Amino acid sequence: MTGLNGNTAVVTGAGRGIGRDISLALAGCGADVAVLDVDIEGAKETAGLIEEAGRGSIAVKCNVAEYAEVQDCVKEVLGWRDQIHILVNNAGITRDNLLLRMREDEWDAVIRINLTGTFNMTKIVTKHMFKKRFGRVVNIASVIGQMGNVGQSNYAASKAGIIGFTKSVAKELAPRGVTSNAIAPGFIDSPMTAVLPEDVQEQMRRKIPLGRFGTGSDVANVVLFLVSELGEYVTGQVINCDGGMVMAR
Ligand code: NAI
Repeated sequence: MTGLNGNTAVVTGAGRGIGRDISLALAGCGADVAVLDVDIEGAKETAGLIEEAGRGSIAVKCNVAEYAEVQDCVKEVLGWRDQIHILVNNAGITRDNLLLRMREDEWDAVIRINLTGTFNMTKIVTKHMFKKRFGRVVNIASVIGQMGNVGQSNYAASKAGIIGFTKSVAKELAPRGVTSNAIAPGFIDSPMTAVLPEDVQEQMRRKIPLGRFGTGSDVANVVLFLVSELGEYVTGQVINCDGGMVMAR
């Protein structure tokens, strides 16, 4: 249904977890994928899996929080393929703490990687998309940016920021054929969530109407919709992929 043959995608934080699943799904629909991650070993593994599946891939070490580094990485990708059609801003971290205990470095790290990282990548890649008059930007936000959560004021602020950013970019770039949307996943099985204690995971599960955690593939399916022809009239939206979690709050 979603032919992406001839498309080049850039996915950040693609060395494991949801980013890897998104990359493999894009490749499965025919796209070549530049796998960006601060963890180059993880990125190489993902790129290897994509090549095994018969698509082109390049692994690039990239800390999205560093503007100059992002510039160099995007240049490297554009040396490999002459157009970037799809950008998925997926890299993200948590540094949970109650507000009264939250240290400045915990606040700064989450805002810099999740929000400033999304700004850096989007600004640099859409400059190129703007000239080509085509682009699909998908930002991975979170239900926490909509609902808030105890111990996650930094993370919630970064993800709410991504939602406002997504809509502004959608308005600015629509005249140039570039769409910008966000996905708000709920609780997804990944290395990020596997570290939570079993009782916390059980509490979370009870809050999900569909009764199960999501998978990286659940999120990847929404990405595929947004970047394919099926989603070409959709921009400035936040699509929840959360088993109904956000309506159950
Ligand atoms: P993860 O921790 O398993 O993977 C994150 C990847 O991002 C890792 O490969 C890591 O090396 C990379 N990364 C971290 N800092 C980076 C930086 N500065 N530059 C480039 N890459 C960097 O996390 P997961 O669960 O796969 O999450 C992916 C995205 O989905 C994140 O934005 C997260 O906030 C979001 N999300 C996850 C949910 C979940 O339940 N797992 C729920 C809602 C949103």
